[in-house]
Amino acid sequence: MSRKTVHIENFGCQMNKLDAQLVASAFEEAGFGLSQSVKDADVVLINTCSVRQNAEQRVISHLGHLKHIKESRPDIIVGVIGCMAQRLGEELFEHKAVDIVCGPAQIPKIVELATQAIKEKTKQLAVTEKIRKENQSEELEDFESAYGADGRGNSANAFVRVMRGCNNFCTYCIVPYVRGPEVSRPPKAIVEQVKHLACGGVKQVTLLGQTVNSYKYIAGEKTYCLADLFEMLSEIDGIEWLKFVTSYPSQEFFVPILKAMADLPKVCKYLHMPPQSGSDRILKAMNRKYTSAEYLDLLVKAREIVPDIAIAGDFIVGFPGETEDDFQCSISLLKKAEYKNSFIFKYSPRPDTAAEKRLADDVLPEVKKKRNIGLLAEQEKNSDKFSQKFFGKEVRVLVDGPSKKAKISSNEMGQLQLVGRTEQDCIVIFEGLRSLTGSFAKVKITRTSPLTLFGELI
Ligand code: SAH
Ligand code: SF4
Ligand code: F3S
Repeated sequence: MSRKTVHIENFGCQMNKLDAQLVASAFEEAGFGLSQSVKDADVVLINTCSVRQNAEQRVISHLGHLKHIKESRPDIIVGVIGCMAQRLGEELFEHKAVDIVCGPAQIPKIVELATQAIKEKTKQLAVTEKIRKENQSEELEDFESAYGADGRGNSANAFVRVMRGCNNFCTYCIVPYVRGPEVSRPPKAIVEQVKHLACGGVKQVTLLGQTVNSYKYIAGEKTYCLADLFEMLSEIDGIEWLKFVTSYPSQEFFVPILKAMADLPKVCKYLHMPPQSGSDRILKAMNRKYTSAEYLDLLVKAREIVPDIAIAGDFIVGFPGETEDDFQCSISLLKKAEYKNSFIFKYSPRPDTAAEKRLADDVLPEVKKKRNIGLLAEQEKNSDKFSQKFFGKEVRVLVDGPSKKAKISSNEMGQLQLVGRTEQDCIVIFEGLRSLTGSFAKVKITRTSPLTLFGELI
């Protein structure tokens, strides 16, 4: 049998990006080649997201496209992995293109499933009814620590999961159903993994968890929290920046984490802590366990401990029953919070969540749209103010590489438009050599816009 190749397409959050990398490494380890396009791949995997309906719709229309391809190349194997695979399971086989359905807790099996599908030409299903048990399985932990550790992709950036799953059950959210219960990974495994990444040239590690600030691992007498991880990871040579997403607004561990940020130079001064709404009535209906005043107190505390911290938030507009007054509370919270940026989403009912079962999706689409635009406009003013503070300043940037808009041809000195991020997660655009990709650069900011800083290499 000639060497088979796999192509992976990714939808969804950073968790999914990491899973796609883990899966790619597992296939390489098993002797498969990686392919950049569907065209010459034997196996095509779609890593899916269920968080909003439009995320699922994009996958469905993509499957339609793959069905066409399969008509002329019937041997191609199509697999759906990730959150949508877990949510829909067998139902996905109704789609003619699909050969494999594999949920997030089952990814250690993915190579085996693909090999079977190629050999036997049969449909392969691996989703779990017992996600509670399987989220804690040794198999999953081994898969994460073995394959996440090789610094693939020649990048200076890596994601490392510190927690799987979520226990919060916010009433609108599908994540606990598809990703299972919260499990914190052993600190030793995380440290080993980061050491390995550092050896491979990784300079920035982003620690991932749905509620990353509630990381908690008990080993004998000692309880490890995120601040302990920061301390251990700060010792690792080669790692220069540590970031972490996403934080849930809670008092627990908050001060130690912020103190670690103030005291440990490698911990970046960036906090992504979504409020979701500014209305206490809506927060309650969402099963978020804080009031808007408690949330704002946390931000005051954060700024006391780390004065130059950059804070980002997420909001949902049009949650069931959200009145104009409730929406105005979100506007008011957004103004007071002085975010660097926020992500605003229109409520999308997710099957079998508490909100979908008990509450009517009663805010009209045009009202959701109007509120979305309203919050974004308010945020833009904040973001602009935040960006302007950098005018004329020198910032340190970890260079991601050529920007999307980089001209194919560089200028006579071989420079092209590069993009990178600062410690506070600000996007910076400047001209430089492609070879700066993956390294740190000093840039003087000469122009600002709400979401981007522009500058010159020093
Ligand atoms: N664990 C993170 C967020 C995970 S989902 C947290 O708790 O903050 C990412 C974002 O998607 C959420 O912050 C929320 O704003 C949004 N989101 C989740 N479910 C949604 C839904 N049903 N409709 C619209 N937005 C949703
Ligand atoms: Fe979803 Fe809430 Fe868990 Fe975030 S904390 S993943 S919004 S249930
Ligand atoms: Fe992420 Fe979407 Fe799953 S946001 S955890 S890929 S539902």
